[in-house]
This record gives sequence, structure tokens and C-alpha cells, in this order.
Amino acid sequence: MNYTDFSKNVLNWYSANKRDLPWRYKNNSPKDPYKIWVSEIMLQQTTVATVIPYYKKFLRKWPNIKKLSKSNINEVLDFWSGLGYYRRAKNLHLTSRIISNQFNGIFPLEKNEIIKLPGIGEYTSAAIRAIAKDEKDTVVDANIERVMARIFYLKKPIKQIKKEIKQNAEKLTPKFNNGDYIQALMDIGSLICTPKDPLCNDCPIEKFCITKKKNAVNEIPKKIIKKDKPVREGIVYWIRNKNNQILLKRREENGLLPGMLEFPSYNWSKNKINENDKKILSIKNTKKLNKKVMHEFSHFKLVLTVYEKNKFNKNSIDGMWVGIEEINELGLPTLMKKVYKQVLEN
Ligand code: ADE
Repeated sequence: MNYTDFSKNVLNWYSANKRDLPWRYKNNSPKDPYKIWVSEIMLQQTTVATVIPYYKKFLRKWPNIKKLSKSNINEVLDFWSGLGYYRRAKNLHLTSRIISNQFNGIFPLEKNEIIKLPGIGEYTSAAIRAIAKDEKDTVVDANIERVMARIFYLKKPIKQIKKEIKQNAEKLTPKFNNGDYIQALMDIGSLICTPKDPLCNDCPIEKFCITKKKNAVNEIPKKIIKKDKPVREGIVYWIRNKNNQILLKRREENGLLPGMLEFPSYNWSKNKINENDKKILSIKNTKKLNKKVMHEFSHFKLVLTVYEKNKFNKNSIDGMWVGIEEINELGLPTLMKKVYKQVLEN
């Protein structure tokens, strides 16, 4: 394969067809690694369409690293509500402080420095360095993996051949314009080389594609049958006081939904139950809702039973009381938004 021809085709296609995304830069305008970092963290586990409004709002709120480093962690966590994978928000906040304190507020782009920052692994380091500085790091996200598996006709499931895919992708990495090149491959993967029925007629690298030559585009990459996720069950309390306020608490700093606001919920994660909460846990004077709340995490499904409670010993309760109408304005994780909706619909 002529590797130069390959990247030339990719880059030409990109000039004419690239997606207009808010974290992308017009030709040769100076690039801000802070903004690229924020976009890459958001895009790690979330789709482009979901990320766009969050990204714009995040940069209005925290336009530079200094502003972010001076924010309160709870503000960042609450902002993240609905995006999921909340550890990302914790790491963004922590990393902004490290960069402010140890790097004078200047985003480090040397590989040995960037890779040590919380939340930045091999992939994110490579993507930021390529996009911000055109470094020749090889970048392979899920879209690019699929493109590579097809170009080189790699017949095993992607999970089993990550190393081989990366080695092949390395051979194609261009000496110049790597930032545009990897984003072009992401766009080709997303718009053309789709998992099912790819649009090979529109593909700028069709002539390099062994899978296309073999007429096997729907067989590569090889699919694996996903196992069903295990199911966990837990309980959640909707506790209302005489002023029509509802009890919310902040979850522990570690574990699932770290540091996020919740209606007190128990028995479904490793979070410990404190002595005070044990008193809430009595289901005396509660009303059980018929409909349960379902939610999917990356590695399990959760079924929560909702108990309404409006008689309790005041001294047994610690947390924050919020008026029902104000709950919508808080940054609740999606799971808790579902609980809220379920109670209102009941
Ligand atoms: N996914 C991860 N990074 C991306 C980027 N820079 N553009 C589009 N999709 C992406």
C-alpha cells in the first residue's frame, strides 16, 4: 500500500467534507490545548451529538484552565449531570488544579508529562497531542478501529486484536497534519465506514480497502455476542417534610456516581451506610411505589424500588432539603432524574 497516497486521500476528503464541530479549528488558527482536552474527555464515552451542547456551555462557564481550577468540585459534578461517567468530571477538576499549581497554568503537551495527569491515558494523550500540535502519535478510537479492521481485512473481533490494529494504524500515520488526519478518520468512521452497510461509494480510501475487495464489509469487524449484564436491586427514598421539601444527599467521593446528588439510595453499590442513615432505612411509615426505576450502567442493570416517606424522626435525617420545584435545577444524575419522574407520575 502507498501510505502517502492513503493519508493524502484522507486529508483531501476532510477539507471538503469535515463535520463542523465546535471544538474544531479553522485553518491554521491557534489551538488551545485546554479546549481540545475538554472535548476529548467529554467524547471519551459520549456521542458527538450529546457532547456539543455540554461542550459549549462548559466553555462559557470555564473558558480557561485558571477558571476551572478555581471552581468548586461540586459545581463541576453537577454540571456533568446527564453525561454519565462522573469520574471524568472529578479528573477534569483535579487535573486543572495540577496544571495551575505545577505547570503555571500552561497545558503540558510532552508525552511523559501529559500521560501522568488524572483521566488522561494513552488514547487521550495521543489525541490531544495530535490535534493541538500535530504530533505524530497514532490515535485509534472505536471508529478508527473499525476503519483499520476493514482496510487491512482483520478477521478477529476488535477486542482481540487491539495491538495489531494499532500497529497497522501506525504504518499509515502521516508525517504532517496528523491532527486533521485523525479527525478525518473519525469522520470517515462515523459518516461512511459505518458498522452496518457502509457507504463505500463515497469512501475516499475505498481503493485501499481489502475488505471491500473481498466483498465482506458486513462481516468485518467480526461481531461478538454480548453477554447479558447482571442485575442489581436497590432501594431509594423519597422523603418529604412538612414544607413540601425533599431530602437529597451527596454520594461518597468514590464508587459509583461519585460526589453526585441523590435521593438517599441503598444496597446497590459498595457505599457504606452510616449510622444516621440506618434510621431512614426502616421501611415503617413508607409507601412503596408500584413501578420500579430501571437504569443501565456500563457493567450492570439496576432496578430501584422507590419508597415514599413523610413521617420520620427529624433528628435522624441529615442531608439537604430542596423544594420540589427546585429539584429540576439541580445537577441530578440521570438515574435520580428517573426516580423524580417516577414519583411525579405516580
Ligand atoms: N471523538 C473523539 N474525539 C473526537 C473529535 N476530535 N472529533 C470527533 N469525534 C471525536
